[in-house]
Amino acid sequence: MLETETTTTAPARRPRISLWALRVAATLHLLAVVVQPIAIGRYLDGNVNALTVHATVGSSVGVMGMVLAAIAVGYVVGGGALWVLPFAVLLVAAEITQIVLGYARRLSIHIPLGVTIVGIGVAFAIWAWQPRAGRSRHRDSTPTATAPESM
Ligand code: HEM
Repeated sequence: MLETETTTTAPARRPRISLWALRVAATLHLLAVVVQPIAIGRYLDGNVNALTVHATVGSSVGVMGMVLAAIAVGYVVGGGALWVLPFAVLLVAAEITQIVLGYARRLSIHIPLGVTIVGIGVAFAIWAWQPRAGRSRHRDSTPTATAPESM
């Protein structure tokens, strides 16, 4: 009887709870960013209160970005795609910059950055709901057992 090392497929660590948390957070973030151009459009149409809506939702976008970044830590630790963490940190930085530029009325930067944040928010939410967001970044094969080889 020979003993040989076999490579069995051990399930690689992959995100589960953190994936669902990421999906919910990405969706809420998406809904908030999509409100922003609508609110500012209403303000420019003459509804003065819509600027308050835009500013309030703007703050909640910043908070949601931070929540997303916190969830991204758990997602990456849980085996999810590594790029999600630096992405979420950059998103928070962009959103804080966006809020500062909004209050400073630096619109030549605020509007293009806002459009970019909306686009990225949409793209990220779409990605988060795809099966590939739930895959492990680790390879799936680990040598685990020495099995007897029967002849
Ligand atoms: C997630 C993205 C966004 C955030 C966090 C944000 C945040 C803000 C904040 C905090 C203000 C200042 C509000 C105040 O003074 O009370 C502001 C103003 C403004 N935002 Fe945004 N904004 C975002 C996206 C956008 C987008 C996409 C547009 C246009 C397409 C836009 C257009 C404007 C304009 C025109 C103002 C100045 C209104 C005025 O004072 O006449 N923003 N924004």
